[in-house]
Amino acid sequence: SLVPAGTAVMPPMARQATSIDTIEGAKRKAAFQAVEEHFSNDMQFVGIGSGSTIIYGVEAIKAYLTKNPPKNDRYIFFIPTGFQSRKVIEQAGLMPMAFDSLPEKVMLDVAFDGADEVDDELNCIKGGGACLFQEKLVATRAKKFVCIADYRKNQARLMTKWPSIPIEVAPISHATVMRQLKLLGSVNPVLREHTLAKTGPVQTDQGFYIIDAPFKPLLTAKDVAEGKDGSGVDGVWDVHTLAHKIKAISGVLEVGLFFGPTGIEVQAAGGQGGQKPV
Ligand code: 5RP
Repeated sequence: SLVPAGTAVMPPMARQATSIDTIEGAKRKAAFQAVEEHFSNDMQFVGIGSGSTIIYGVEAIKAYLTKNPPKNDRYIFFIPTGFQSRKVIEQAGLMPMAFDSLPEKVMLDVAFDGADEVDDELNCIKGGGACLFQEKLVATRAKKFVCIADYRKNQARLMTKWPSIPIEVAPISHATVMRQLKLLGSVNPVLREHTLAKTGPVQTDQGFYIIDAPFKPLLTAKDVAEGKDGSGVDGVWDVHTLAHKIKAISGVLEVGLFFGPTGIEVQAAGGQGGQKPV
């Protein structure tokens, strides 16, 4: 079954950044604000995502903890979403903990991560850095998912500027998955390859491949509530329906669509760690 991410929160500062900000400056500003608002030294388990923005997030956490160390020599454990993320945690001198070492039934206090595009309902496209599977594992185990996204990434609907949905697939069946994606209306899905080194397909930390599948801009839950048809007619999908359809293709490990707070109600009903029965 597909699980929704927890509460996606886009720091307001990310929206306020102006064109005079450099992109790196905007990322850093958003990261520091996200950490200021959503991290504290009494937390115990914190998810750390992947990409370039999260590096500023870890810098902000480190700066905060240097000024406000946890009381009584308590440890805060940081759960990475991949190889790069683990390195960033270690290089900051923070304590990593493997996802599978989390005590049973424990939820992360918060998970921070970046995104490639974020819509008005805080649904996200993720996977630009090929880390989506572990990112979703960690996000869905968190009480709160804080998405750190600078001003470039905020669009009314997903697939407005970001060109495609990253999908992590088993190498043995990537061509079959690609055909299924075309049947769903993706005109030109491509297998992600190393462009410069020409060393073949990009492999994820799981040894899987990534297919980047373009679709028409995705309808939000509000669009659907207002009567727009997101069932795939003429290749027009809403975020939730398309995510379920892609996840149901045999050979797909994970799809880079993360649900915003529209998943919360179902999350509460589903009980276990935000899992949504489908
Ligand atoms: C990696 C991701 C990243 O979080 C996303 O691509 C954003 O990266 P950046 O912060 O470098 O823009 O999902 O798979």
